Amino acid sequence: MDITAAEARLNALREAIRHHNERYYLFDAPEITDGEYDRLLRELAEIERQFPSLLTPDSPTQKVGAAPLEHFSTVRHLSPMLSLGNAFSDDDIYQFSKRIKQLADITDNISFMMEPKLDGLALNLIYEKGVLARAVTRGDGDVGEDVTLNTRTIRTLPLTVPQQGYPVPEVMEIRGEVCMEIEAFRRLNRQRLEAGEAPFANPRNAAAGSLRQLNPQVTDKRPLIIFLYAIGHITGLFPASQEESLKLLSSWGFPVNPHIRKVDGIDACIDYYHMMEGQRDSLPYEIDGVVVKVNDLAVQEKLGFLSRSPRWAIACKFPPRQELTKIEDIIVQVGRTGVLTPVAVLKPVSVGGVMVSRATLHNTSEIEKKDIMIGDTVLVHRAGDVIPEVAMVQKENRTGREQPFVMPSQCPECGADVIQIEDEAAHRCIGLACPAQIKERIRHFASKKGLDIDGLGEKVIQQMVAKKMIHDPADLFYLKKEDFLQLERLGSKSSDNLIAALNAAKKTTMEKLIYALGIRHVGEHVARIIARTYPSLEAVMAASRSDLLAIRDIGPEVADSIIRFFGEAQNLRIIAKLKAARMEWSGNTAAAETSSPLAGHSFVFTGTLAKMKREEAKNMVLSQGGMVHSSVSQKTDFVVAGSDAGVKL
Ligand code: IVH
Repeated sequence: MDITAAEARLNALREAIRHHNERYYLFDAPEITDGEYDRLLRELAEIERQFPSLLTPDSPTQKVGAAPLEHFSTVRHLSPMLSLGNAFSDDDIYQFSKRIKQLADITDNISFMMEPKLDGLALNLIYEKGVLARAVTRGDGDVGEDVTLNTRTIRTLPLTVPQQGYPVPEVMEIRGEVCMEIEAFRRLNRQRLEAGEAPFANPRNAAAGSLRQLNPQVTDKRPLIIFLYAIGHITGLFPASQEESLKLLSSWGFPVNPHIRKVDGIDACIDYYHMMEGQRDSLPYEIDGVVVKVNDLAVQEKLGFLSRSPRWAIACKFPPRQELTKIEDIIVQVGRTGVLTPVAVLKPVSVGGVMVSRATLHNTSEIEKKDIMIGDTVLVHRAGDVIPEVAMVQKENRTGREQPFVMPSQCPECGADVIQIEDEAAHRCIGLACPAQIKERIRHFASKKGLDIDGLGEKVIQQMVAKKMIHDPADLFYLKKEDFLQLERLGSKSSDNLIAALNAAKKTTMEKLIYALGIRHVGEHVARIIARTYPSLEAVMAASRSDLLAIRDIGPEVADSIIRFFGEAQNLRIIAKLKAARMEWSGNTAAAETSSPLAGHSFVFTGTLAKMKREEAKNMVLSQGGMVHSSVSQKTDFVVAGSDAGVKL
């Protein structure tokens, strides 16, 4: 690269970095990931290293952050709040150690304080005569925003230095990181979504947005925590090391991170770095690396500062856990209870060292609230051991070719109808034979309150489904002893017992059967009411919405759910199969004629019949195991037309 090309690239980089500083520090709304930001900054620093004549004092490499917001009053820090140089690998950490040993002329092992690099926002606290006088954000490093009132709401922060142990200093400036725990962040975002507000992209932005509220009462409701990690300035006391500084703070009750360790030599630093990387997922708050600090303050002083950061410390970064990528498609996964979850298929991207190609989108209302479309560029976030989530959409990247997501009306696993019950965010598949739900369906079918099939526990069901012995609940009644003998840990005697239990279950009550079918919103109580109201299952199946609504205790949700369940061909086939297995349920007066050619077929009547009333004809069909519907659909097998037939014909 010649100097003209370097200058052009340098100007572009400086411009971009200034813009992103503003997004990050001023608006708490970054447009790029930390990883991308670091790459820009490193490229700029590298060009400035190669062409020192191009380095200017106002370059972003020489300054931190952006100027403070106008709403808060500004305060100059007693000593500037610096940033840290970054290490991204073991080798970078070795180089750091080599550098300081040379500069400070040390040959022995150096003592370091190793600290988690908390991913929140830096806060500068000034205590005057032991009382919190001011709390100031980092701002541009020299001047920050006065957030004292908001800071006083942080529960774990002592507002006064206790008059015990060490003498209370006249003036003390201490620094720490304000964070929000991951659980609290999720809770806050759920509340925001419910209230129709935009969710925060990550816990750090949530912490920053909460601390920089103009109304302290809002901050008071946000669960912020703080860990102190440095003394910037202190009068009357002279800690000799970082370790002593932290002990001093801790003795006064200031929260100091419990994972901080003192180590000797750079190898131990690297061990700590990898150990914390391993523990990262189990911490309740986010950390994005560890910080290595020379412990001895005399050595720190000897090493001094670069313009932007101390020479005696370095941030060893973990791979970032937020990355930008593209949503290539949105597919639907069916859970064991039939809930359909939209899942984003992503252009694979490494997020915090893990390749991510899927992210849950939770449900359609979440998609609407976040305004997610197929083809969007999105920020993907992974926290703790959770499934990756789409944190936010980069709307400015839209081309107009993005496609909205539409929830399918048929289950992608089994083709049954998909319903969304009023007031519920979830869509559900109502298929009794849906492979995604089969285990859960059978467990429910065989449960105590259902058909009460003894010995049909989870492990047996699991094996039968895995061996494809059963595809729906009715298949149970077609199993023979030989089938059971194939199963692990099931001897001849237990197989006999199971066959006996299944035979016993064939004779049941309508109430138990209705419950066992697992119709959404039909629990024990509703099953009983229905069984008492109708003489037969066929009558239930033929009931209209208004018939059902006429029953006390049955509201529109339950009625709709029943109508839809019996409107699903898959479910009717299974009921016919149960009858064919000679299952009997008391209340079922009409003998099950499943050998009938009508069994499982759907009929629709229209017009006036010549030889009998329509009601009689309906009952004949029902008694033969057929189904009667009031309108023609894809599932209709026969339309029986009399004179003056209507549009149904
Ligand atoms: S020491 C001059 N210690 O990281 C020393 N910083 O990239 C400056 N941070 O602004 C800070 N945990 O917001 C230090 N244990 C820790 C830290 C920590 C998180 C943040 C802090 C700082 C930034 C520097």
